[in-house]
Amino acid sequence: MSMGKVVTRIRLTNHPDLDTLEAGRIPAAAVRTVELDALVDTGATELAIPREAAVRLGLRRARAARRRDGSQKTCLTTAGMAPSGARRTMIAIERRGLLVLGSALGAGLLTGCASVRAPAARDQHGAQAEDVFPPEDLMREHGVLRRLLLVYEESARRLAAPAEAAPTATVSAAAALIKKFVEDYHEKLEEDHLFPRFRKAGKLVDLVTVLAQQHEAGRRLTRTIQQVATSGAVGPGRPELVTALHAFIRMYRPHAAREDTVLFPALRSVVTPQEFDLLGDQFEDQEHALFGPAGFENVVAEVAKLEESLGIHDLAVVTPA
Ligand SMILES: [Fe+2]
Ligand SMILES: [Fe+2]
Repeated sequence: MSMGKVVTRIRLTNHPDLDTLEAGRIPAAAVRTVELDALVDTGATELAIPREAAVRLGLRRARAARRRDGSQKTCLTTAGMAPSGARRTMIAIERRGLLVLGSALGAGLLTGCASVRAPAARDQHGAQAEDVFPPEDLMREHGVLRRLLLVYEESARRLAAPAEAAPTATVSAAAALIKKFVEDYHEKLEEDHLFPRFRKAGKLVDLVTVLAQQHEAGRRLTRTIQQVATSGAVGPGRPELVTALHAFIRMYRPHAAREDTVLFPALRSVVTPQEFDLLGDQFEDQEHALFGPAGFENVVAEVAKLEESLGIHDLAVVTPA
């Protein structure tokens, strides 16, 4: 007899689809099912399945729950489920692409009490990765942008005062970070995942048009800022750099504020709950691919260094007496 893992083929079925089939409202081919290889564990009360399988089964978010170890899971349920608790098919979604099927699984859906679990993502300090929803993720990134605008603002003030040393190294570094984090990552997410969905739904189309135009204008300004700052703005380029910094600040404050208060809150109205969940993971995967597992924290640390180089890092100094 061999020891080790026992894997079995299982089939998961959308239970409400079976009811609809029984009622003669859909053909058998329309019942959503997926087949998976599952690891058998006789003590298992939960089942983790790939996120794509949950999407194919038509599962949607039901509630968030906390595990005994403190980690968070998000319970999903089949769409169109009857409100009666007796037939509940609960699925819990974990960050990083695994779903956990709760113990309230309908009898007959799954035989063999199988379990396929994998550890949730952990960050560099070993802490459990937390669930961050797409709007919150994008708003945090706006926080980074706002701090970079403060760096630009202080730099512009010094550049406009001829007696002050031109902080060209700080401006160059801030522009490089804006290009890397804001333009090539954050705005790319908006352009690839948000703007097309609003356009397709015919919602906030005028706003999206202006926002997209502003991304392009921002990129042009960043190119100018980088060119002038690296070619020595101490001389004749100084006023040009001040003008470009002011134009950037003037555009991005209302840009980010409008996205935070109008566009992001409307995101749920143009995506399905499943798409909303998937977006969070796509954002996170993209962030990790570009900036590593602690990407956001590293970017925040970079911004803090720029603030320090200008002496604007101490938050307490702006508190009125
Ligand atoms: Fe934007
Ligand atoms: Fe944005």
